[in-house]
Amino acid sequence: MTVQRIVGKVRRVNGPVIEADGITDAMIYELVRVGNEHLVGEIIKLEGAGAVIQVYEDTVGIAPGAPIYGDNIPLSIELGPGLIGGIYDGIQRPLEEIRKISGPYIARGIQVPSLDREKKWQFTPQCTVGKEISAGMVLGTVQETELFIHSILVPPGVKGTLTSVVPEGEYTVTDTIAVAATGKGEQPLTLMHQWPIRSARPVTQRLPLDIPLITGQRVIDTLFPVAKGGTVAIPGGFGTGKTMTQQAVAKWCDADVIVYIGCGERGNEITDVLREFPAIIDPRTGRSLMERTVLIANTSNMPVSAREASIYTGVTMAEYFRDMGLHVAVMADSTSRWAEALRELSGRMEEMPAEEGFPAYLPTRIAEFYERAGYMKTLCGKEGSVTLIGAVSPPGGDFSEPVTQHTKRFIRCFWGLDRQLANARHYPAISWLDSYSEYLVDIASWWEREGSTTWEQDRHVIMDLLQREVKLQQVVKLVGPDALPDSQRFILEVCTLFKNAFLQQNAFDKIDMYSTVEKQTKMLNIIITYYQRGAEAIKNGSTLVTMRKMKVYQDIIKMKFSIPNDDLSGLDKIAAKLERSFDRLSFSPEKG
Ligand SMILES: Nc1ncnc2c1ncn2[C@@H]1O[C@H](COP(=O)(O)OP(=O)(O)O)[C@@H](O)[C@H]1O
Ligand SMILES: [Mg+2]
Repeated sequence: MTVQRIVGKVRRVNGPVIEADGITDAMIYELVRVGNEHLVGEIIKLEGAGAVIQVYEDTVGIAPGAPIYGDNIPLSIELGPGLIGGIYDGIQRPLEEIRKISGPYIARGIQVPSLDREKKWQFTPQCTVGKEISAGMVLGTVQETELFIHSILVPPGVKGTLTSVVPEGEYTVTDTIAVAATGKGEQPLTLMHQWPIRSARPVTQRLPLDIPLITGQRVIDTLFPVAKGGTVAIPGGFGTGKTMTQQAVAKWCDADVIVYIGCGERGNEITDVLREFPAIIDPRTGRSLMERTVLIANTSNMPVSAREASIYTGVTMAEYFRDMGLHVAVMADSTSRWAEALRELSGRMEEMPAEEGFPAYLPTRIAEFYERAGYMKTLCGKEGSVTLIGAVSPPGGDFSEPVTQHTKRFIRCFWGLDRQLANARHYPAISWLDSYSEYLVDIASWWEREGSTTWEQDRHVIMDLLQREVKLQQVVKLVGPDALPDSQRFILEVCTLFKNAFLQQNAFDKIDMYSTVEKQTKMLNIIITYYQRGAEAIKNGSTLVTMRKMKVYQDIIKMKFSIPNDDLSGLDKIAAKLERSFDRLSFSPEKG
């Protein structure tokens, strides 16, 4: 990127925060380069001739008087072919390219373009000279990976008539592929364009959220589903499974593109993603998962200010893919580390701290982030969505702290991780008592149409049993299980069965790691049938012991591991066997 002009000089350096003076013609949020090393920064406060700059690299060695260069654009990222499979830092510097040049640590001031400038892409135009174009329209396509077709969009803000279009052929991201005559003169269009990360990309319209994002995780899809375009928080103390849950969703959910933001967590978790994702085959496409993933890594050992920027970089990429008419899921792990970056920067700017040292604008920032989720009608008339799933890591697992509390105000789906469940190795440790989804009513008709006609009802039955279990457990604690009648002890037993055979899901087991909607509904149905027929049998004089002896009980316990997603006939057999076992029981209740 060419450096345009000197806009001021350094007055004071305070870690990643630099105060500048002598500012002439800079704008707020302008991208700047600081010192002779050209460290990347952003003007975050402007007052007369003074400015505060947030620098995204280590500022050691920068001294008062050092020049500040302005780039004349707000902090932006590059959007175009080459994003898929990319690994970037919080301000979209390509980590792999940088490693080749500067080794394992990022050299300061290094300038490597985010998208490869040399690589040629096969571009197929879908427009001709004379066509009226406007923002979001599709100019043509690039086959980015074997399966991924990258739509080349007219960038937001551009409107005019095409005066030239290149023929089909190979072009780099900066080659001119079309020229438009606009009100502001001739505008060349390229395969890539830039977009400022702090501004949401425009859409035509927000649409209702009534299609679930299927994650393959039973406790999520069946009990606490999220809609495509929805917002989720996953709060949990250290080691309760936030990262595992996000990775499981990233692996198996039915989004077209995954943007995975490793934000202030340990570097080895990103390494896990890098090692595992290429090897995992997406069951829907038969291709490597990396072919639908973009990784943003700003781990705990990288600069805090770039961490602050990373979630905006991630969500901007997600919006870009959404604008092509795709469904995108964004994982941010963790938003608490992002909030801590905000706190550190705010502290250095000597702003008035609010709760627990966080700046008073923390809730606004959290709200602004989650507002960028949604199911949208895009400018090109297609439908696309951005689903935001943020992990929250409250210190000491205390959900009453500010980040968890404020996040709760802005999300509509809450997968609360429970320390006791994690300790008991019940994974995913998503609490069925604390968690909720506000999308249930809206997605019920999808389930009715595409999933199972009994989902809503079955879910209701099982949630009711889980609530009743809490009260029954209290009684058991006081007076022991023998005080309960068989009908109530049976409820406890069904709940235990449901937890073991359904809710617990082993992320490391080849078959159990994900369950299709069909498998989930059949499994749930079997357990509900077991409950209903069992309750009836007990009324008719059967005992718990005889029911436990039914052979089919063992089949139910094992079904999640034994029945593969691509052949569910085993579940139909279990269902039939279950009915037969109860039929026999009712003929001879005492023998079983
Ligand atoms: N679904 C799961 N299946 C199996 N093990 C799990 C699952 N979820 C969590 N775990 C176990 O819990 C450990 C900690 O999970 P992790 O996601 O790293 O926690 P956090 O990110 O909340 O600190 C994992 O290393 C793994 O052993
Ligand atoms: Mg983690």
